[in-house]
Amino acid sequence: MCGIVGYIGHREAYPIIIEGLKRLEYRGYDSAGIALFDGTDLKVSKTKGKVADLENISEKEITKTGNVGIGHTRWATHGVPNDVNSHPHTSNSGDLVIIHNGIIENYESLKQELIARGYTFKSDTDTEVLINLIEDVKKQEDVKLGKAVQIALNQVIGAYAITVFDKNKPEEIVVARLGSPLAVGIGEDEFFIASDASPFIEYTKDAIYLEDEEMAIIRFHKGIKIRKIKDDSLVDPYIQKLQLNLEEIEKGGYDHFMLKEIHEQPKAITDTYRGRLLRDQAIIKMAGVEDNMKKFLNANRIIIVACGTSWHAGLVAEYIFEDLARIPVEVEYASEFRYRNPVIREDDVLIAISQSGETADTLAAIKLAKSKGAFVFGVCNVVGSSIARETDAGAYTHAGPEIGVASTKAFTTQITVLTLMALRLSRAKGTITSSEYRRHLLELEMIPGKVEKALESDAHIRYIADIYKDASNCLYLGRGYNFPVALEGALKLKEISYIHAEGYPAAEMKHGPIALIDENMPIVVIATKKGHYEKVVSNIQEIKSRKGKIIGIVTEGDEQVKELADHVIEVPETLESLSPLLTTIPLQLLSYYIAVMLDKNVDQPRNLAKSVTVE
Ligand code: M6R
Repeated sequence: MCGIVGYIGHREAYPIIIEGLKRLEYRGYDSAGIALFDGTDLKVSKTKGKVADLENISEKEITKTGNVGIGHTRWATHGVPNDVNSHPHTSNSGDLVIIHNGIIENYESLKQELIARGYTFKSDTDTEVLINLIEDVKKQEDVKLGKAVQIALNQVIGAYAITVFDKNKPEEIVVARLGSPLAVGIGEDEFFIASDASPFIEYTKDAIYLEDEEMAIIRFHKGIKIRKIKDDSLVDPYIQKLQLNLEEIEKGGYDHFMLKEIHEQPKAITDTYRGRLLRDQAIIKMAGVEDNMKKFLNANRIIIVACGTSWHAGLVAEYIFEDLARIPVEVEYASEFRYRNPVIREDDVLIAISQSGETADTLAAIKLAKSKGAFVFGVCNVVGSSIARETDAGAYTHAGPEIGVASTKAFTTQITVLTLMALRLSRAKGTITSSEYRRHLLELEMIPGKVEKALESDAHIRYIADIYKDASNCLYLGRGYNFPVALEGALKLKEISYIHAEGYPAAEMKHGPIALIDENMPIVVIATKKGHYEKVVSNIQEIKSRKGKIIGIVTEGDEQVKELADHVIEVPETLESLSPLLTTIPLQLLSYYIAVMLDKNVDQPRNLAKSVTVE
């Protein structure tokens, strides 16, 4: 997954592309590049590193004028991140230039054919193969660029979002997508191209999202034509009105997007249940669930597929669906599920969870389940994303854009949606009493205020972060609903601070990890009052007798764990089933402050990217 930006119109393209790349840097940031047509020739500047590095070198390398251009921020798949492998790539003649997000799986055989026809390659990328294939088709078949792109893409196996232009015909840009997102912003006689709408939101609110297997030819003064790549049929463009605001994608005074997004959680959770949780009427309204109630009620089981943090949200959902709605649930890594020939029945319901809605493995798992006749429900944050479109029905989390690579508000809002679903289904099935149901609604409505309260421990958490920032390893333990939170806490720490961390069910500690415990090992234990409190307290005693350093996440007013632990961080009391929405907050802050103290790039951790659109 990389970030793509393009512009054709009456403005200077350079600043639009550079600013756009900065907004898309969350998608990948190991190298960056730009190609501009300056009125007479094609100018390309690219480098390993960040968009800021590109700005520095392009100052010296190119004139920054021109009304047509494309830019790229990369997360390497083929070829190490270096200057040569950075995009854009030009064809052998130097006429055609391309940027590409995705993987061309059959690039090696295509490359050998091109080499046999005299083509040479500078980089290790599949992208350079594609642009030379397009050039070869254009010459051999004597066709225009759009046709050449179409013929070439029909020979390609893999996934892509591409943007191509010809320096001899700079009034035209050709774009195409299969498996990687691409949006075209429609302005007044100008067009913007981007992996998501954030690079052009201040210029236009009108956008077309290309569907898979579609391409578009965009001509200055003439407009846009969309075609199916396979059969060349024309597609009627559907122009969407964007809801996104500029403020939502800016840091708003915070040092990092991650910190901003942690603090946005009270609002994000409220936005998630707004209009759905009607406590006065004791109603939960979710159109996607209501319209498909029979599917849910007749389900043999629910299979949840997701990756990373979203998978952790799925694990929390497993507890709540089984606990309240008494529906059997299996939670699967999408990447394993799709490749292990799973048994899927027509009366299975598959719930796919994804913040970005673009994760390749989750998308593939959805397609597999659909092909077996299962009903597929999506829980996504990004409106109009591939997963949102591919599923039979769904519910958006309404968390607003999440830009920090480490998921925070995506996790808590996913849990909120899944909790609403479990409550609605348990009511429909009669597996919850009326008073229990009302209690849940009331408590859920109080969660945003309690998250605010949990955020007040900020200074205390910073103090603890300072003590443990130099640890080499860290354990996170939790039981029941808070076992997935332990996994999520460990993931947060390792991904942004690069400290090795493991999440474990507290009782499993005795079956191995206890061997790691000594006086240098910090162990974060989630020990809230509801649930298996006494059992967790015993686990804490076991750690203490091996001299481990204990950081307890406890319910306000807890005295017992305070006695045993080296530090405690309090969260307000709530129902056990809702406790992950609170216990997660200190773990997010702890990871954040440790990473900041270690001077790590919190929003763009090494080797990671926000959405993983390759398998
Ligand atoms: O967009 P998705 O929710 O499908 O992404 C899945 C994972 O890549 C993601 O949750 C990842 O683990 C987090 N960004 C880590 O904080």
